[in-house]
This record gives sequence, C-alpha cells and structure tokens, in this order.
Amino acid sequence: MSLMDALDASMPGVSPGVFDEADFRAISEITHKEVGIVLSAGKAMLVYSRLAPLVRNANCATFGAYVIRIREDATERTKAICALTTNHTFFYRESHHFEHFAREVRPGYVQRLQSGGKVRLWSAGCSSGEETWSLLMTFLGEDSSAGARIAKTDLRLLASDIATHAIAKARAGTYRTEDLKPMPEPLRRNWTRSTGEDLLGDWPMQGQFDTIFCRNVMIYFDNPTKERLVHRFAEKLAPGGWLYIGHSERVTGPALDLLSTQGPTIYRKRAA
Ligand SMILES: C[S@@+](CC[C@H](N)C(=O)[O-])C[C@H]1O[C@@H](n2cnc3c(N)ncnc32)[C@H](O)[C@@H]1O
Repeated sequence: MSLMDALDASMPGVSPGVFDEADFRAISEITHKEVGIVLSAGKAMLVYSRLAPLVRNANCATFGAYVIRIREDATERTKAICALTTNHTFFYRESHHFEHFAREVRPGYVQRLQSGGKVRLWSAGCSSGEETWSLLMTFLGEDSSAGARIAKTDLRLLASDIATHAIAKARAGTYRTEDLKPMPEPLRRNWTRSTGEDLLGDWPMQGQFDTIFCRNVMIYFDNPTKERLVHRFAEKLAPGGWLYIGHSERVTGPALDLLSTQGPTIYRKRAA
C-alpha cells in the first residue's frame, strides 16, 4: 500500500485537495529537521487533526499553503511543532526509577549538599512537569523538616521541553488531586497542597474570606446541595463579608440566617 493509499484509508473524509502525501512528507521533514521527532506514515491522521485548527487560524485554505507558511514563519513553525509533540506523562511514572534514585543516588547528593556542595538535576523533555515534580518530591523526601533544609541548599532542578504549552503547566505546578495519586502518600502529604478544587469536598483553607465569588456554578447542583454549599460559604465568610452568586441563582435555606440580601444576587454576612 502506498503512503497515499494509507492516508486515504486512515482518513476517510479528508480531501486530498486539503491534505495530501506531499504535505505530510513536508511536515514530517520539517519536524524531523527541527526537533528530531520522526512522524511515520501511521501518524498522518494525527498530523491532520493536530494541525487542522492551526491551518484554519492561519487562514490557509490547504495544508500545502500552511507548509509554505511554516517554512517562512519561524513563530508559526514553532506552534506547529509544539502541536505535534506528544506530551503524555504522569506522576511517578516508571516508579522504579524514583525508587532507585531515592535508595541509591539521593543519599550521596544529600551528603554533598549538607557539606556545602551543589547538586544539579535535569528533567529533559519534562512535558507538563509531572516527572520534574515527582523527582523534586523524591529528593525532598519523606521527612518534611529534613526536606525543608534540603530546599535551602544549592540544589537546582532544570526542567526543559520544546512544547511551550506543556512547560507553562510544569511551571504553574498545579494538578488535579487525582493526578497525584501515584505519588507515595508521605511525599504527597509533605510537598503538595490541595486547593480544594471540588467545592463539595473538604476545604483545606484555614481562615475566613472577606469576599467570595461563586457565580453560575450552583446551577448545576440540586437544591439540597446548593443550600448546603451556600451555608458553608456563609460560614466561611468573615462578619461583614460579601457573597456574589450568578444572576439566575438565589440563596435559600439555612444560609439566610447568616446572610442579608444587599442587591440582586449580592449577599452580606451579618455582623457576629
Ligand atoms: C511523552 S513526553 C515524556 C515526558 C516525561 N519525560 C515522561 O517520561 O513522563 C515527551 C516530551 O518530549 C518533548 N520533546 C520531544 N522532542 C524534544 C526535543 N527535541 N527537545 C525537547 N523536548 C522534546 C515533547 O514536547 C514531550 O513533552
């Protein structure tokens, strides 16, 4: 089967006038030359689906026109290459590496740091940072006081990747709680902090809030859930604090004992 046949077979509905073998070959060559990534014939559909939005955004009617564009425009070329990277990763992936590192490598590094030396680590091709943060947490270790001391030493961990969207996530260092599950519990407990992303779950925030915005969220909940949530908001507000909810939402239930209406969908916690 020729590459063209393979393209036709794997991409029903994709017009050869829009994306053809020459386009695929050109994109593969550019990607290989720029960043070393090999796109085999089986990746034609992936190339099509990942680049189609960029082709449209660049106002190109065909992939052929887009190929000309990325040859000439380095910024667009970088965008295309980023879109073609595969960023799949997860915390504590291939856990035996972290276990080996913790057991065999880390103790010597810790000693070196404690005697004033430096340690340099590199998470090369870090994607969205799960590998990097897994390594850092492993280094800081299960003893949180010792880890806090290590963090003040001359330890640096470089994270690099060509995919700018992935690097942005790595830098932000914010992940879903469930993504952290593969991490050993002591490391997760020591080195991550929950932001309480599920409003209906536990809230780790200690203090009270002066203002809470929760708009167009409660419309997705049933009445008992809404009433429970808004009562928890009311309890979490400092006296005199403000609560803003969505234009089609109302406070009902026990929260009304704590809140007074100040305007449409604006409430204030009564003074203690
Ligand atoms: C599948 S991820 C692996 C992430 C992590 N290392 C892991 O094992 O979980 C591969 C990453 O390598 C990056 N990558 C591919 N070619 C690269 C290059 N030439 N320079 C830097 N990063 C590259 C991709 O952008 C992608 O985020």
